[in-house]
Formats: sequence, C-alpha cells, structure tokens
Amino acid sequence: MDERFSRLRGFIDIYGEDLYFFNLIENTFRKYAEIYGFEEIKLPILERTELFVRGIGEGSDIVRKEMFSFKDRGNRDVTMRPEGTASVVRAFLENNLLNDPKYHKLFYIGAMFRAERPQAGRLRQFHQAGVEWFGSDSPLVDFENISMLWYILKELGISDKVDFIVNSVGCDKCTPNYKSYLTSFFDEHYDKFCEDCKERRNKNILRIFDCKNPSCQNTLKNAPKIKETLCDNCKYHLDTLTDMMSKDKIPFSIEDNLVRGLDYYTRNVFEVRYKGIGAQNAIAGGGRYNNLVSEFGGPSIPAFGFAIGIERTIITLKENIELPKKMSVALCSVSSKETNFSLEIAKILRKEKIVTHVLSHIGNLSKQMKVANKLGVKFAVIVGEEEFREKKVSLKDMETGKQNTVPIENLIDKLNNKGLE
Ligand code: HAM
Repeated sequence: MDERFSRLRGFIDIYGEDLYFFNLIENTFRKYAEIYGFEEIKLPILERTELFVRGIGEGSDIVRKEMFSFKDRGNRDVTMRPEGTASVVRAFLENNLLNDPKYHKLFYIGAMFRAERPQAGRLRQFHQAGVEWFGSDSPLVDFENISMLWYILKELGISDKVDFIVNSVGCDKCTPNYKSYLTSFFDEHYDKFCEDCKERRNKNILRIFDCKNPSCQNTLKNAPKIKETLCDNCKYHLDTLTDMMSKDKIPFSIEDNLVRGLDYYTRNVFEVRYKGIGAQNAIAGGGRYNNLVSEFGGPSIPAFGFAIGIERTIITLKENIELPKKMSVALCSVSSKETNFSLEIAKILRKEKIVTHVLSHIGNLSKQMKVANKLGVKFAVIVGEEEFREKKVSLKDMETGKQNTVPIENLIDKLNNKGLE
C-alpha cells in the first residue's frame, strides 16, 4: 500500500480476536449497566474545548498536552472528547435530566481521543465504557459502582488478575490543608522536581503525583500523606467503602499517592490495575466528583462514576482467556450441478447457527480444500454427484483428515456432538 494512506500513529483498526473481545466487553458491560439501573446515552465526539478545560482541569496532563483541539470552520475552539464524564454532566444539565430520576444513572460506550505517546496499552483513539451516577453522596453509591465493575470483571473471567486500588482525595474542607502541606514539601525539595512538576505546582499541586519521572516519584515517597489530613466526613466515606468491599470479598489495597489524573475528583477514588500491561496497567478508574455539576452552572449535585478502558481490557483478556472455537464448516461442491443442493445444505446448517462458508471455486476440489484449511474450519462438507443423488454429504474432519459419508438428516447431530468414526 502507498505509505501516504497509512493510518495515524496511535489509531488502530480492530478486528478478529480483538474485536471478539471488544464485543464481549461491551456486551457484558451493557448487560450489567442495565441490570444496575443505568440508562444509555450517546454523546457527541466533538465538544467545546472549554468544557474539558474547566471539567478536567488546566493543570492535568490531558488538558496541558493531550487534547486533540482545533478551530472549527466557525472559528470556535473545539476538542475531540478525551473522556466521557464532562460530556455526561453537560448533557445532564442541558437536557434537564435532573428533573427525571430515570436519567440520574447514565452509561456510555464510545471512542475517546488523547494525543499521548503511543505504546503498548496507550493509544490516541481508544474506547471507554463508563457510568455516571448523579444525586447521592452516600458511600453506598461508591460501593454499588465498584461492585458492578467487580461483577463485570468476574463474568469476563479476569477478576483474579486485577488489583483494586482505593484512596480518598478529600473534599473542599480538607484538601486545601493537604495542598498547603504538599506545597511546603515541594518547595523544600524544589530542585529535585522536573520542569513539568514546577508547572503543576502552580496549577494544581496534586497533579505532581501524575509525574512519571523516576526522580520525582522517588522524592514523592516522602511527601505528606493525604490520609493524615482527611476530615471526619471523608474518613467516614473511605472507611465505609472499604468495609463494604471487605464484606463483599472484593480484594483491594489503599494507595496514598493515588490522586487520579483529572481535577474533578472529591473523596473516594479508585483504579483497577492489571499486572501484565507494563506501565499502562490501569484498565479502569473512577471516583466521586461532588463539585462538577455546580462548576458547570448547575445546582450542587454530588456524583460518582467510572470508566473501563476497552483496549486495555482486551489485552488482559487475550493473555488470560482462550477464544472459544465456534463450529464452522466449508461447503465444497465438486461441480456446478451440485450448487443448488449445496445451498440447501447451507440453509440447514445456518439455521442451527453453524458458521457456514459456501466456497466458490466450484469444480476445483483441491483449491476448495486449501481455502477450507486457511479459513480454519472444523469440517469440510463435500457434495458431488453421488452425494446429490443419495441425499447425503461427505464430511471431512479438517484436523484429523478423517472422512465419512453422512445422510443429510444426521448431519447436524454429527457436527454437534458425535464426531467421525
Ligand atoms: P481515566 O482513568 O482517564 O478516567 O480513563 C479510564 C480508563 O481509560 C483508563 O483506566 C484506561 O483503561 C483507559 N485509557 C485512558 N487513556 C488511554 C489511552 N491513551 N489508551 C488506552 N486506554 C486509555 C476517565 O476518563 C474518567 N472519565 C473516568 C470516570 C468516569 N470518572 C468518573 N466517572
């Protein structure tokens, strides 16, 4: 192919095994979101840049350097959504959903865009499946969200391959105290921090925990811990959530430095990590955000949500789960006289949900066998003159090479469970 048409770095085509797992994740997520009482919402991919700058925060890596932003033809500043939460809050307010309790729990599935440096598990276009729950400050809501995610991962077969990490980032009452301790600590160790962190210090000091620089990370090991400054209410929220997780046997650990990369969080935050994806090991994350609705001009409405990264979950599934093999056959006709008979057999097979490839190289059986092999089908169903006359087929097991003739009325049984002698 001419290189000029190649795909952009960090933008991928999804097909084959990856797409099988993509659909599995999407379907499992949708099933649980619905039974937990969430309503689906489809959101625009393009929004006003201001929405994300205000929502995610000027000091965040996403806003500072990762947004696909440009001027549209009307000279407006627009951005391809880097995440879903800010858009859901906008939609919640703009469509007056606060007046309809049915839409206080929303879920979405779709593509997100971040101009990060691509590497394993880090893409520029990726997909998230997320939920947002408006209207309650109870830690029960935090638990319900996390337990739903736990059951999704359980059903996908990877709950024992991941760690839940929990922390609290405090609230309006206690975070300012923590930020001032952290700023003093930063200033004492000013020279040990990178230029990026110096910028973070001035925009939102909490963002220094997002730094990947090993020297900054090392210095931060001695930083004051947020749990030491949490107010009683925030402590109660964290304790209640972790108690409920323990009672439900959801394994977790508390990590003092988990502050998440988005500015809107308040109180409990969490991340789900898989050990196998290297540095990009968070397959899901979320938390409480009690101020975002009012920051967008709405009333004071608390909220909680999370999002699963679909591509990173695919990596996890591929390393741990075997792709189920579907029953599949290739229908081979010896000559064009048997074509109609073959097509009748295809109908019988497809009615039983057996994947059926009707091969078109009629008359060239060896070519048809080669194609059947490449398709990886379990059986070749061969019809020639004799089979047509006697209403039967020759069935060839592509793995063992064994071949039997089978009357049509026994074909499905043979394929489904009996195998060939
Ligand atoms: P986030 O942690 O930025 O949270 O993203 C959620 C998940 O999206 C991550 O755990 C990861 O699996 C996936 N992800 C993020 N960036 C990339 C990337 N460049 N390539 C591949 N996957 C990626 C949020 O976006 C919040 N909106 C979650 C939330 C919802 N909080 C409250 N409600």
